[in-house]
Amino acid sequence: MDFVKGLSRRSVLQVGAMAAAGASGFVPTRFAIGNTAKVKVGFLLPYTGTYAGLGEAITNGFKMAIEERGGKLGGREIQYVAVDSEANPAKGPENTNKLVSGENVDFIVGPVHSGVALGMVKVVRESGTITIIANAGAGAATGPLCAPNIFRTSFTNWQTAYPMGKVAVDRGLKNVVTMSWKYAAGEEALSGFEAGFTKAGGKVTKQILVPFPSDEFQANLTEIASLKPDGVFVFFAGAGALKFVKDYAAAGLKSIPLMGPGFLTDGVLKAQGEAAEGVLTTLHYADALDTSENKVFRAAYAKAFAKEADVYAVQGYDAAQLMVQGMAAVKGDAGAKPALIEAMEKAVIKSPRGAFTLSKAHNPVQDIYLRQVKNGKEIVIGVADKALADPATGCKMA
Ligand code: PHB
Repeated sequence: MDFVKGLSRRSVLQVGAMAAAGASGFVPTRFAIGNTAKVKVGFLLPYTGTYAGLGEAITNGFKMAIEERGGKLGGREIQYVAVDSEANPAKGPENTNKLVSGENVDFIVGPVHSGVALGMVKVVRESGTITIIANAGAGAATGPLCAPNIFRTSFTNWQTAYPMGKVAVDRGLKNVVTMSWKYAAGEEALSGFEAGFTKAGGKVTKQILVPFPSDEFQANLTEIASLKPDGVFVFFAGAGALKFVKDYAAAGLKSIPLMGPGFLTDGVLKAQGEAAEGVLTTLHYADALDTSENKVFRAAYAKAFAKEADVYAVQGYDAAQLMVQGMAAVKGDAGAKPALIEAMEKAVIKSPRGAFTLSKAHNPVQDIYLRQVKNGKEIVIGVADKALADPATGCKMA
């Protein structure tokens, strides 16, 4: 895989070759080079920082699905290019442009961070680049900023949080403190939870927001202890989630039930150890799902990467499945966008999470599982919300 830092030497060489071809009067059309040219897939993912593990899992999952399906897209070989998003929203548009203009990719897969997604979406709405969001849950990407060329194989932040509201009330938790990083994902997850929670009769007594990606939680944990809520609902992910769950236990707060979207434990459960016992989460995936797709997927992933698969790997895997179905329908002609988009809209994804389809706004309609850590394992308690679709408020497809 090539990493792009500004314009790579290779892409500069390519531009040179194209100019030479133009000068000789030979201008290849998009399909004159058709089946022989490689399909270019650009990853816009974090490979450094608090979300680095998430970017790696998405990349692994994506490549594994492609390899399992013959290593090609619509009969064409693939060239991967990766840009490290650094989960930095300020660099979102610039990093997207490295792939769109600098590398002229056929597809973008990414990002992880909702703030990066918002910048990316603005660029790809203009360029028309077919984009599959493999994590970032920003509601706007499949809401007011939705577009025919923008798809998602992950979730909206609302989807992973709303169902926990009723669960909390059903468990007798009436007064809850919420906490997260102050950016789109955290704020949307907390408001999603609060919507479901207040509807069911609960009350959020305090919302705490800390800057992203700070992992200095001590002062906030002291405040939570003094507030004595019935429960605590948080959105954290990656290295921050690992630290929060450990700090929560170390602060002596384990008697207060800790809840959140499943990112709180996914990919970091082992490292959290004892501290994660009892943590209650909602998510569109769980390691322990008892389906043949999930078992085969997890075994193959463990074999290929010597590590346990997690929700991020699933989302990358499913992004590839969506692309494979689209590219098969157009026989590898990535430029046949209306037909490609139509095939992707109709795709049924046989995901390790369970089969799913896409809503009109191009977001998965999916079951949200209720999970709890017991004896170091993520147990599936049940389905908290069946075939949940994001409301996609404000989405008008052009
Ligand atoms: C997001 O920024 O949308 C985000 C990041 C990490 C997660 C989930 C959502 O695990």
